[in-house]
Amino acid sequence: MDTDKNWAAVDDYIVDRLVGGDQPQAALEANAAAGLPAIDVSPVQGKFLYLLAKSTAARRILEVGTLGGYSTIWLARALPADGRLVTLEIDPHHAEVARRNLEEAGVGDRVEVRVGPALDSLAALAKERIGPFDFVFIDADKEHNADYVDAAIDVARPGALILVDNVVREGGVLDDRSTDSKILGTRRLYDTLANEPRLEATAIQTVGAKKWDGFILAVVQP
Ligand code: SAH
Ligand code: DHB
Ligand code: MG
Repeated sequence: MDTDKNWAAVDDYIVDRLVGGDQPQAALEANAAAGLPAIDVSPVQGKFLYLLAKSTAARRILEVGTLGGYSTIWLARALPADGRLVTLEIDPHHAEVARRNLEEAGVGDRVEVRVGPALDSLAALAKERIGPFDFVFIDADKEHNADYVDAAIDVARPGALILVDNVVREGGVLDDRSTDSKILGTRRLYDTLANEPRLEATAIQTVGAKKWDGFILAVVQP
């Protein structure tokens, strides 16, 4: 049995029944045309993010790692008319493609794309007292995940939801001898969370078009 293929086929089935024309397909096409890597969340994951943000009535959303804005569009769609989303991206070319995709998707007015290393932008957000955020999606360089969570707590309200993408890595997270900086960063994230009294957290493993991976979900304690 070719499990990866079956996972992708079931994702297609789910997209066909439950996501359909909802997904911001044009953004994916623009990303490919601009040479961006296809490392966006999958369509079913995008809708999952949208539903989480919507069901928690998030008004201020923070994203770390924009790429071409595919996940950003899903999250922005969950906002009420006066809601705001700030998304952080280090690569000016990615940011430029994202801004165009966000305009095209009709959510440009609700989203600010900030260019620069996310750790610097997070420090600036805290200083400017922008926020507090209700919902944070972390999906940038995996090496800094523990630092991003730490910084996110400072700009999130009590009860806010923090999600982190790519925390299973096809089981690679189990490798305690790994020299892969992404695995090391992910394992450091789990160790940090295990000793972080300001958060309650779990991780959910996922399979699908993006193979075997998972999300961490954490809630900021009052
Ligand atoms: N969330 C996007 C995918 C993000 S891919 C989606 O699902 O559609 C990860 C992005 O993080 C890339 O665009 C990469 O340039 C960016 N990135 C990497 N290191 C970063 C850093 N230090 N600060 C901010 N962004 C960073
Ligand atoms: C990579 C990053 C991601 O956020 C993702 O979902 C998949 C892959 C990467 O850096 O390779
Ligand atoms: Mg990701």
